[in-house]
Amino acid sequence: MFDIATAKEVLKRHGQEHVLKFYDELDDEHRKLLLRQIEGLDFDMLDGFIEQYVLNPKPLEIPTKLDPPEVVPAVCGRADEATIALHAEAKTRGEELLAAGKVAAFTVAGGQGTRLGYEGPKGCFDVTPVVKKSLFRVFAEQIRAAAIRCGETIPWYILTSPVNDIPTQAYFRQNDFWGFDPKDVIFVQQGTLPAIGFDGKLLLARKYRLAVSPDGHGGSLTALRRSGALDDMKSRGIEVISYFQVDNPIVRAIDPVFIGLHSLQSAEMSAKCVAKCDPLEKVGNFCVVDGKVCVIEYSDLPDELAMACNDDGRLKFSAGSIAIHVFSRDFVERLTDGGLCQLPIHRAEKKVPHIDITTGEQVLPPAPNAVKLEMFVFDAMQLAKNTVILETLREEEFSPVKNAEGTDSLVTSLHDQIRRAAGWLERAGVPVPRDANGQVAAALEISPLFADSEESLTEKADPSISITPGQNFYLGSKGQIGGA
Ligand code: UD1
Repeated sequence: MFDIATAKEVLKRHGQEHVLKFYDELDDEHRKLLLRQIEGLDFDMLDGFIEQYVLNPKPLEIPTKLDPPEVVPAVCGRADEATIALHAEAKTRGEELLAAGKVAAFTVAGGQGTRLGYEGPKGCFDVTPVVKKSLFRVFAEQIRAAAIRCGETIPWYILTSPVNDIPTQAYFRQNDFWGFDPKDVIFVQQGTLPAIGFDGKLLLARKYRLAVSPDGHGGSLTALRRSGALDDMKSRGIEVISYFQVDNPIVRAIDPVFIGLHSLQSAEMSAKCVAKCDPLEKVGNFCVVDGKVCVIEYSDLPDELAMACNDDGRLKFSAGSIAIHVFSRDFVERLTDGGLCQLPIHRAEKKVPHIDITTGEQVLPPAPNAVKLEMFVFDAMQLAKNTVILETLREEEFSPVKNAEGTDSLVTSLHDQIRRAAGWLERAGVPVPRDANGQVAAALEISPLFADSEESLTEKADPSISITPGQNFYLGSKGQIGGA
């Protein structure tokens, strides 16, 4: 570990000596913590970041020539025969990969969840309408359902951050990993990057600790490499990684069609999209620049482009990213060769609480005072040799819980979960009570262990099931009614 003389020398060389201002007041434990944190930083790289993103930031340049990407359509009422055949072929390929034990699940859950206002890891947040299952439980049941169906283990890798790793792992232990063998649930802690004041100086969160934040979900790829998770995947024979965010309870965590399509088209990274519900919807936009698919975040796409229409009046950039991907393990290995993943850095100006270096007092800034740096996983699409974008239906697969209220909140997600369950039940021949406005008149929930898709529900549901208006209805793991 760095001694104090080495730390002073390094910090002086990079103009950051102030972070040792309170060193003499600290006890031994806190001194060690601070020295270890300083040793863990790559100051040459940080100097570059400070220059480029803090002292002389350039406005983000949106390429002048943007085109919409090619998208494989979803199979729904309007699908043509070729699309139906492609989906069927993809499903077979996906099922083969699953049955050969070549698929892993990967959930990114390292974010701070500030907008939701929930204390604790977001994955522990209860989201289902009847049983109030947490996000992690919903995903656990989905992955187990897929594993049971294919008769092979599907290991589950979960990205945590230094802030939520311990409570996340404790939560899994408290719940006996929902039936997973603990060796098949692998926690991967992501890295952090320091917050940098507008003057280019690192901030202290405490007298003994630098202010840092997770390095973005783009950091998940480096974290897979550094933690040894990629090697673990290789030793298990994993070839493809099914990636999804922690915030979307209706994600199809393991989708044979998507996995199979990725493989059939020899893609290195694939993505699912939905048709945007509003030109300015807060989702990433799939575009093509210089022949490469990329995602331009809603906040970066100028409104006139977001609203641009084709001659037929349809939105030009209508494919919205729902942050569901398939990666080839080989691709992640290539990207992280040498330990670092060269994804672009995105800057965001934030209010970062810190210690005033002159007074030693804690400051809670009323306005942004610092730059946070993050990498975004979707930037890896531009680096992939081949990509596929598969359209899916919003009502089937996208209803995230991001905000405490309003759009993308628990209320909207509960509504969507009930609506999706009602659709599955009705199309399987089970009558669902509805009110005079056609709204579902009962809280409905289906265990993923009973049916994780409309198709599996249709195979198993008993059409004589009766649902009482105004009551909770839960179809449990064995098709029993009620119980958790
Ligand atoms: C994200 C996407 C957006 C997409 C939308 C779909 C970004 C920048 N934008 O928006 O294009 O349309 O989801 O829902 O991601 N996370 C980590 N570590 C981090 C940061 C985030 O694991 O350091 C995880 C979070 O736990 C969460 C996910 O990444 O699962 C999304 O992060 P968030 O910052 O909430 O992105 P959104 O703004 O919701």
